This record gives sequence, C-alpha cells and structure tokens, in this order.
Amino acid sequence: MSELKTIQLPDIGDFDSVEVIEVLVNVGDVIEMETSLITVESDKASMEIPAPFAGTVTNVMVKAGDKVSIGSDLLVVEASEEVSTNDAPADVNPSTTSNPELNTAAVNTVDVDVGSNNDISDADYDLVVIGAGPGGYTAAFRAADLGNKVLLIERYSDLGGVCLNVGCIPSKALLHTAAVIEETRTMGDHGVTFAEPTIDIEKLRGFKENVIGQLTGGLAGLAKQRKVSVMHGNAQFTSANTISIDGKTTISFKHAIIAAGSQSIKIPGLPYDDDRLMDSTGALALADIPKRLLVIGGGIIGLEMGCVYAGLGSKVTVVELSEGLIPGCDRDLVRPLEKRLRKQFENIFLGAKVTNVESTDQGLHATFEGGKAPQEDTFDRVLLAVGRSPNGKKINAEAAGINVDERGFIPVDSQQRTNVEHIFAIGDIVGQPMLAHKATHEGKVAAEVISGHKAYFDAKTIPSVAYTDPEVAWMGLTETEAKEQNIAIEKASFPWAASGRSLSMARNEGITKVIYEPETKRILGAGMVGPNAGELIAEAVLALEMGADIQDIALTVHPHPTLAETFNFACEVAEGTVTDIYVPTKK
Ligand code: FAD
Ligand code: NAI
Repeated sequence: MSELKTIQLPDIGDFDSVEVIEVLVNVGDVIEMETSLITVESDKASMEIPAPFAGTVTNVMVKAGDKVSIGSDLLVVEASEEVSTNDAPADVNPSTTSNPELNTAAVNTVDVDVGSNNDISDADYDLVVIGAGPGGYTAAFRAADLGNKVLLIERYSDLGGVCLNVGCIPSKALLHTAAVIEETRTMGDHGVTFAEPTIDIEKLRGFKENVIGQLTGGLAGLAKQRKVSVMHGNAQFTSANTISIDGKTTISFKHAIIAAGSQSIKIPGLPYDDDRLMDSTGALALADIPKRLLVIGGGIIGLEMGCVYAGLGSKVTVVELSEGLIPGCDRDLVRPLEKRLRKQFENIFLGAKVTNVESTDQGLHATFEGGKAPQEDTFDRVLLAVGRSPNGKKINAEAAGINVDERGFIPVDSQQRTNVEHIFAIGDIVGQPMLAHKATHEGKVAAEVISGHKAYFDAKTIPSVAYTDPEVAWMGLTETEAKEQNIAIEKASFPWAASGRSLSMARNEGITKVIYEPETKRILGAGMVGPNAGELIAEAVLALEMGADIQDIALTVHPHPTLAETFNFACEVAEGTVTDIYVPTKK
C-alpha cells in the first residue's frame, strides 16, 4: 500500500530561515530518492533539498520567495511502497552520498579533523575548490562534468573572481568605450567631425556592471545546472582533508583544488587610507574622471587603465621604474604603442619612481626620483599598478602540509599537483604569467587528473595581450629571450603601413613579426602591435602548437583585405615570396 507523507525541511545547519529560490518539481511528478525538490538560499550558500524517498508528488506547499526553516512543510508525496519505510531525513547536498556535517547539528563543528585518520572514503565531497575565479569555476565545472561531487567555495557573493568582477571583463568594457571616443577624435581627418563627448559616468558604470552581471549570473546558472554546490565564505584548511568556511562549517574532501588567485601589490609609504589612491579595482570602480591621473607602473594594468582614463578625458602621467613600458615584450612591438601613448598621455617617465605620495587638500602630492620625472607634482588621483602577488599565505596551507614559497606561490608539477598528493593548485597562485586563460587550462588539467585521466599542462605557450590602443600581443619565444638564452633564430616582419585593411582604418603603425628556427623554419614565436592584435595572435599560437613552419602559413590563403593577412605576409617575407612590399633578396 502506498502512503501520503509530508516532506519537511531538514536541519541544514546554522540558519534560522532560508529563502526558497526555485521549486524543482510539480504535482504529479514521479520522483526518485535523492531527486532535487527545491533550491534554498541563505546568505552563505545555495543548496538543493533532495527527496528522502521515492514517490509521486501530490501537493507542493512552497513557492519561490517563501522563507522556510527546519521542519517547514515542503511537499506531500505518495511514497512508493518499496521505499516508504525509509524515513531518513533529506540530505541537503545535491549529490547522492550523505553529508553529516551539513544535515545534522554537526554543521558547527570546526575542529573535526577527518584528515587525521586518513579515512576519506566517506568525505563530504569528492572535490572542494577554493576560489571561483576563471581557474576555480572551470575546474569545478569540468570535475562535475566528469562525475565528481563538487563544492565550490568563494568568499565574495559573486562568482567569477578577479577576471569577471574586477579584471579582464570590466577593463575591456571600459577600454571599448575609450577606444570609440578616441576614434571619434580622429574622424575629423576623414571629413567627419563629432562634438566632444558628454560622458554620463553613472550610465557608463551601469554598462560595465551589466556586462559583469550577465557573466557572473551566467556562472551561477551553470553551477546549478551541473549540480556544483556553492558556498560563500572564507575557506581555510584545517587538515589535509578538511576545510573550514568562515570558521563555522567544516567540510571534508577527497581532493582539493586551490584557486585562490592574487591581489594587487602595495608599496610602502603611500597613503592607503586616502581613496584617491587607487588599485586596479578602485580605478575600475570609476568614481569620477580625475583631471590629472598619475599611474605608478607602466605594465599592462597601468597602460590599459591609462588608456581608459585618457579616453574619458583625464590627463594621464605614467611613471615606470624600468627603462621601457611593458617589460617582457620585445621593444619593436612596444615602440608604436609608446609613440601613440606619448601623444595621448600628458607624460610618460621611464627609469623613474615615486618616492612619496602625500594627501593634501589640493590632491595627492607625489615626489619622484630618476629619469626625466620632475621632482614633484600634484594629481587628483593616483593608480598604483606595480604587479600582483599570490594569495598562497592566506589559506592556512600549513594545516594541510602544503608547501608555499616565500612570495606566496604554491609550487605544482605538470599535473597541477602540490606536494600533497590529493591537493592541486591552479591559476595566479601557482605562478606567472598571471592570466585568465592560463588559469582555465590549468583548472581543466587538475579536474581531469583528479578524475583519473592522464592529463598534463603542456601548452607550448601562453599568449600575452595588452588591450591598449594599439593592442600588443605576443606568444612563444621573444627576440629578447632568444638573445638572453643564446638561441639561434631568424625573424621577419611585415609593416602594417603596407596593409590595405590597416590603412583603411587610418592606422599605419602596426607590425607583425614572426620568429623561426633557421634550419627547419619552424615557428618559435610571433608578435603583433596594432588594432585587434589580441585577436590575431591566436593564429600564431595555433601555428606553434601544431608545429607549423613558415611555409605552412605563407601558403595558407588568408582572406583579403584583413589584418590577419599580416601574419601571412610576415611569413612570406621569411620565405622571400612577398609581393606586397619589396624586400631585397638576401645574397
Ligand atoms: P582569481 O580570479 O583571482 O580568483 C580567485 C578567487 O578566489 C577570488 O574570487 C577570491 O575571492 C577567491 N578566494 C581567495 N581566497 C579565498 C578563500 N580563502 N576562500 C574563498 N575564496 C577565496 N588576464 C587575462 O588573461 N586577460 C586580461 O585581459 C586580464 N585583465 C586584467 C585586468 C585587471 C585589472 C586585473 C587585475 C587582472 C587582469 N587579468 C587578465 C588577470 C586575471 O584576472 C587573472 O589572471 C585571473 O583572474 C586569475 O584567475 P584565478 O582563478 O587564478 O584567480
Ligand atoms: P605588471 O607586472 O604587468 O607591471 C607592473 C609594472 O610596474 C612593471 O612594468 C614594473 O617595472 C613597474 N614597477 C614596479 N615597481 C614600480 C615602482 N615602484 N614604480 C614604478 N614602476 C614600478 O603588473 P600589473 O600591470 O600590475 O599587472 C599585474 C598582472 O595582471 C599582469 O602581470 C598580468 O598578469 C595581469 N593583467 C593582464 C592583463 C591582460 O592580459 N591584458 C591586463 C591587466 C593585468
């Protein structure tokens, strides 16, 4: 005989009440034991409540938006005969195995050290991922797709990490705006004159936030579709098999992936309590458009944000410690960028540094040393962009026995494994280059290794792009590295001044360069400077990965007229077959 039974909200831990955000079943649905019934959300986590037994739903007593607490009636189910005797309380975890820490009073236990007895067969999760940046969410999603029961822990309310919230995406949204403004300023030469733009900064901020919201909201949806549990809070290791969240909830795991990212570097002696002194997050917040902005650091962040603010109308000064902008990139590729920026920015001081910044009523008063910098000057805002440091020392790694170096990086092998067999690390926290596309690929490798695949991170290159105007992109071996490492190379360049497409965009400063092995002509590296260089570099990366030689690219028919042709032409220069420019034949 079947029996009507009411399903109530089980003990889900340290919450007075939680909100129902979705009802996942309808009257008449036939459900299995563990079928997800409703999703509830607290300020810390969202969780799906699974059915404690199988049957047919006869009444749904809650709707989205309702607040429920332990013992609240959720549904009435006509229980199937064979399982109706199973009155076990529903497990809050979306997956199949029970989770004692979450569905019983044990949720508050912080000092349970399940790792110490090394019995992890009944761990709460197959995989816990710390940090929901591009590395962390990719690893979590891939691992879930491969059948693991996954928990993703993020200290902030939105998923996406630095990249989506305060990095790659907002900076590109603002760079696009700045580039359009800059372009209108040059259109007078084409006979089209625009008035100076009126900038509604609130609306611009709203546009940027909207782009971020679409992406981070999308991630939350993707996590749900994959049944990846998400908890919000500060994760700290308490042993090699346990993590505590905000010091309240302890979770046990079979594997962990550390994807806790990095943060802006601070230099001593600056007035950090003055909000006119900004890091990249402050600059992206776009509080106002300062009349004069000082950027400390002529690396990628400094120049990208410099382009944003110059586009919006600020007078930008950059002070860079080394003798050139974007150290690490070949000088011939940086030169066209520097030339254009020198026209757009108020000043660029190389080989110089800021020795002091003082808060005054008139602004931030900076003192300089070195290069052609003045002794002092006053700015409305200062952006500090002198690099990022990893968060390795902020997760209590020692409790799990994980090695962290003195700078905060976590050393890993080519499978992303730390010195602790079942704990992996990915993204900014494992080393340079600190780039989102490196983090995502490493995340996939770690997830696959955990799932028993023979995966390795063996990319031949990780391309770099500065989304400045013009963009600068490079991959593989640089000329500078070849010189330093005494590697014999040959190179060929194609000037965009001979590209019909580039000229029709009124741009003639670009260069595409290819670096190759003299004997075999195999491509070893490439670089581009010019509009859209960041898109164009992908072909060169593929060429390197596929072991292409100069002829492979020279003989590949590229569409005309495109900027992509410039890579084709650079390889034709190397081959001696180019006809779009005249290159005297080598004797
Ligand atoms: P992150 O994105 O830093 O994510 C780590 C996450 O872990 C964060 O959400 C953090 O809150 C969370 N976390 C940390 N500690 C804990 C803890 N104890 N408990 C719980 N959660 C924790 N890269 C590019 O490739 N292209 C670009 O155009 C680009 N532009 C950038 C622009 C700016 C202004 C900045 C600052 C960076 C940019 N980057 C860019 C770099 C890119 O953002 C990073 O390389 C990338 O985000 C690293 O990913 P990740 O997953 O390692 O870490
Ligand atoms: P960075 O390392 O790229 O550049 C920092 C610059 O500051 C260097 O040129 C350095 O010589 C200079 N510097 C250091 N100390 C200084 C001082 N005291 N005074 C003046 N100059 C000083 O670091 P940045 O720009 O902060 O970016 C951090 C990381 O974020 C990048 O390395 C990159 O990994 C990532 N990023 C990537 C982007 C992209 O891919 N387009 C965009 C923005 C950031």
